[in-house]
Amino acid sequence: MSHPPLHRVKYNPRIAHASITAIVSLWSVIMQPATVYSRDRCITGIHGMDEILRGGIPYGSTVLASGTCGSGKTTFGMEFLVRGAQAGEACAHFTATEPSVKLLENIRQFAFFDMNMVDSGLINVFDMDVLYSWLGLDKASFDLDDVHALIKAIVDIVNTIGVTRLVIDSVTTLCYKIKSEQLIRDFLFTLGKKLATLGCTTILISEITSATQNAHWSSFGVEEAIADGIIVMGDVERMGHLLRFLQVVKMRGTAHSRAKHAIELTPLGVMLTPMLKWGAVSDKTSRWGS
Ligand SMILES: Nc1ncnc2c1ncn2[C@@H]1O[C@H](COP(=O)(O)OP(=O)(O)OP(=O)(O)O)[C@@H](O)[C@H]1O
Ligand SMILES: [Mg+2]
Repeated sequence: MSHPPLHRVKYNPRIAHASITAIVSLWSVIMQPATVYSRDRCITGIHGMDEILRGGIPYGSTVLASGTCGSGKTTFGMEFLVRGAQAGEACAHFTATEPSVKLLENIRQFAFFDMNMVDSGLINVFDMDVLYSWLGLDKASFDLDDVHALIKAIVDIVNTIGVTRLVIDSVTTLCYKIKSEQLIRDFLFTLGKKLATLGCTTILISEITSATQNAHWSSFGVEEAIADGIIVMGDVERMGHLLRFLQVVKMRGTAHSRAKHAIELTPLGVMLTPMLKWGAVSDKTSRWGS
């Protein structure tokens, strides 16, 4: 059997160049990213926080801010509201750990806090004890109906005022009254879902005893699964000083840094700096002299 003669194709640089160009443009079409959907963000306005979160908290999220005692949870939560109020947002703070009068006395020592925001109704502070009294919930433990009444009251307040930033300080104190784990789960899940539909971004402050490795990020172990985001705050000891840190453990709907950041409570507000950079700085006195 005879084969047809083989013809060598003569190399033509113009054809070769055209082929390569065609392949490259085809490849770039194939590799073209689909239009990237990005969620609207609630810009916290806290120094360093929006960089950590690549632009802010995804709008309508329920974020657990868990921390040890004195780690700066209340200051962080209050500054979140102050920055919102400065942008004209209606904000609400439900306080369960300290009476509102004491809370405001403490927070107004920070220059970033402006009492006019409270007086003008931009920041609305509610005592949980007063809310319980209104609802007839002056009791040691809550059942299903009580939990639903509480959710309804919070949601009604948020709806009526048009709150877009909410802080509950703390959800731990509140959940102590809810005896079953399932009921705590239902409470947080239903509350988060309803607030999200109202376009409200919520910070649930949670008290933990240890923020070290392998610790739970919540008091009851159920809050962390339900929350869209977890921010943990705690202390590290350096040369006899207790230094504060903040770390974003999870934040659904956004890429974010998971590095530990040093947190300083300054008159101008919370300042976050990456721990590595900060680690090199002497901790004799903070840059704010406190
Ligand atoms: N004017 C101030 N300037 C700088 N730091 C302050 C000022 N006032 C209080 N602090 C620091 O802030 C700490 C309290 O911060 P904050 O109330 O935000 O913490 P927390 O985690 O909410 O505490 P708790 O566990 O008691 O609720 C104090 O223990 C003190 O170290
Ligand atoms: Mg506090």
